[in-house]
Parts: sequence; C-alpha cells; structure tokens
Amino acid sequence: MSVPNAPSVLFTPMNIGSVTVPNRFVRSATHEFMAEEDGRMTKRHLELFGGLAEGEVGLIISGHAYVNRRGIASPGQTGIYDDRLVEHMRGIPEAVHRTPAKIFLQIAHAGRQTKERLIGGTPVAPSAVPDPVFKVVPREMTPEEIRGLIRDFVQAARRALEAGFDGVQIHAAHGYLLSSFLSPHTNRRTDEWGGTAENRARVVVEILRGIRDALGRAFPVIIKINSTDFLPTGLTLAEAIAAARILEPLGLDAVEVSGGMTESGRGSVWPGLRTEDEEGYFVGPASEFKAALKIPVIGLGGNRTFSVMERFVREGRVDFISLSRPFVREPDLVRRFRLGLSTRSGCVSCNKCFNPRGLACGDLKKHPSPG
Ligand SMILES: Cc1cc2nc3c(=O)[nH]c(=O)nc-3n(C[C@H](O)[C@H](O)[C@H](O)COP(=O)(O)O)c2cc1C
Repeated sequence: MSVPNAPSVLFTPMNIGSVTVPNRFVRSATHEFMAEEDGRMTKRHLELFGGLAEGEVGLIISGHAYVNRRGIASPGQTGIYDDRLVEHMRGIPEAVHRTPAKIFLQIAHAGRQTKERLIGGTPVAPSAVPDPVFKVVPREMTPEEIRGLIRDFVQAARRALEAGFDGVQIHAAHGYLLSSFLSPHTNRRTDEWGGTAENRARVVVEILRGIRDALGRAFPVIIKINSTDFLPTGLTLAEAIAAARILEPLGLDAVEVSGGMTESGRGSVWPGLRTEDEEGYFVGPASEFKAALKIPVIGLGGNRTFSVMERFVREGRVDFISLSRPFVREPDLVRRFRLGLSTRSGCVSCNKCFNPRGLACGDLKKHPSPG
C-alpha cells in the first residue's frame, strides 16, 4: 500500500498561535479514564501520550480536565483544580517533547451533565433546565459563582502552563457547562450572562480575556465549540460562528468544530460509520467557520481515510484534521500513514473504547487487522 499523492499537505507543519505543530493531525480530546480518584494523572497517561507522540500525532489534546471539583463529569477523569496536581503532570509534556509533537490540556466543567453523587451536591448550570438523561435539575449559578468559574478556568490554564503543556483547549462543546451557556436551550438567563448570543458567549469571552491577562499572548488557547446542539431550540451555526468572531481578536488561536449534547440523543461520537461519504461529519460546518475566521480551524468527526482527510485540507475546508477513536485503536496511525503502511484507520466506530477501567479499543481483539 502506498499513500496517494505523497508528500502530502497533511505532513506539512502549521502554527497554532506561537507553537509549530509538525503536521496536520490532531488527537481530539478523549477522556482517558486513567486518573486517580482525586484527579491526579498517572503513569498510564504518560504511556498513552508518549505513545501518541511516538506515533507522530502532531498535536495531542488531553481528555477533559475539570477546573473545579463540582465540574467533574465521570470517574477516572483528570483534575486541574489545585496546584498540587501540577507535579503529577509534568512528566507528560516532557515525554511528548522528546518528539516534535505538541500537547494541549483540555480544560472543562461538566455543568449539569454529571451525577449528584459524583460531585456531592446539585450540579450547576446557567439556568435550572432539567437534564432528562442525567436526571438532574441543576441549580442556576449566581453571578458570583460565574465570576468564580472564570477564575477557575484561568487558574487551570496557568497550571497547564506550569506543568509544561504547550497550550489549552477550552471545552465549550457537547452540552457541558460552557456549551450550556452558549446554548439558548439551556441558558434562559435574563442578566448579562444570557439572552442575546453575545451575552451567552460572555463567560467564554471573559475566560479568554482572563487567561490573556494572566499569561500573556504567547500561550496558545484554542476552543472546542458546537456547530449545533441537535436541538430545535439549541445553538445555531451562525451564533457559534459569531462567538468565534468575538473571540478571535481577543487572542483565540484556533477552533475545533464539534456538535451535540447528551439531551439531544446525538453527541459528537457517531457510531457505525462505514462509507467515506460519512467521514468528516463536522467538516461541513467547520468550513463555514474557516470562511469567517483567519485562525486555523480543526475538522472533526469520523475522519478515517487518508485521502479524504487530505482532500479536506487541500481544498481549504479546514487546516487540521482531528481524530479520537482511531488513535485509541492505532496510536501509531500517523506514522503508518507517513510510511505508506495504512491508507485508512481500522476503527469501526463501535464506541467500545468508552471503558471505565481505562481507554482501550474494544474491537481490536475481535478484529486485529487494520481495515
Ligand atoms: C472514549 C471517548 C472519550 C471522549 N472524551 C472527550 C473529551 O474528554 N472531550 C471532548 O471534547 N471530546 C471527547 N470525546 C469526543 C471526541 O473528541 C470526538 O469529538 C468524537 O469522538 C468524534 O471523533 P472520532 O470520530 O474521530 O472519534 C470523546 C470520545 C470518545 C470516543
């Protein structure tokens, strides 16, 4: 097998803010289920991220790390809510930096998409809109709590920098807290944090401003944002693009475009992809972000086939290609592409990689050969 049209644009470097990513492949944030109970990263993270870097992923984005203890989404999740967690992280960027790869920490708060027993209280949200899946009626955040949340995100970014990460990704997708602020379905506030699309974006704007004030312009900050919530009363693509346009001049360095929230029954992790036509399922909306912005855009969703990904970038629809599940199965996929040993990922999108004992491919034993 050989890679068509090599050398490919996918193996050319590109900057995200001040850092040079050696190629166009991004490991999209993927919850590893590998942290200690208090959120500490472990040796398993080190092995995982070191392996992805050896496998030539250009930019690795960690699974979502909660910025305060009320923001945990599920057990085994990484925390970044306290300075003492930093020392347990340092080895990870160090391992990644033995290669040309870069690593960003994804910083997050679960909002209402969590369990009361996990956080030891009532989950918080912009408004008290019940979540039918988590069976949670969240408590509306006070303006003081929102200010506290902004500080927590800024502190989390500072800790990521101190741990040696190359940047952070603000998780504002998938119905988690920041996503629920952006969405008119879950944000029914009438104060400065709700109502107009601009007001709904304010919390993210203030987080970015806060990070820039604390850490300067050089530290890369990117965002993962929904293009749609898949709800008739949810965020629109135009509103999401408008939010990105507010953030861009404030120092946002890139956008990764996703979609979905738990309540809609449709998230970002679509099962059962089979044909090339189904690949890149958020690349369409991502290309609309690209048309509206100058910063790099990362195209996500079911990317599996080298030639399809290459076309997305060559045609200027997106700048980077991100993948999650394929790298669970094949951490060396990018190297295999470069060497012409694979033309597509063997990932069958079965979603058995969601493993509370630790991220692992549930299909690999059954079907060991890459498809
Ligand atoms: C096991 C698993 C964990 C995930 N954890 C996160 C996460 O922590 N943060 C996030 O933004 N997306 C998360 N996602 C979504 C992925 O980043 C990605 O958006 C989605 O899987 C689609 O990409 P893919 O088709 O390449 O898998 C997760 C997906 C999987 C399968």
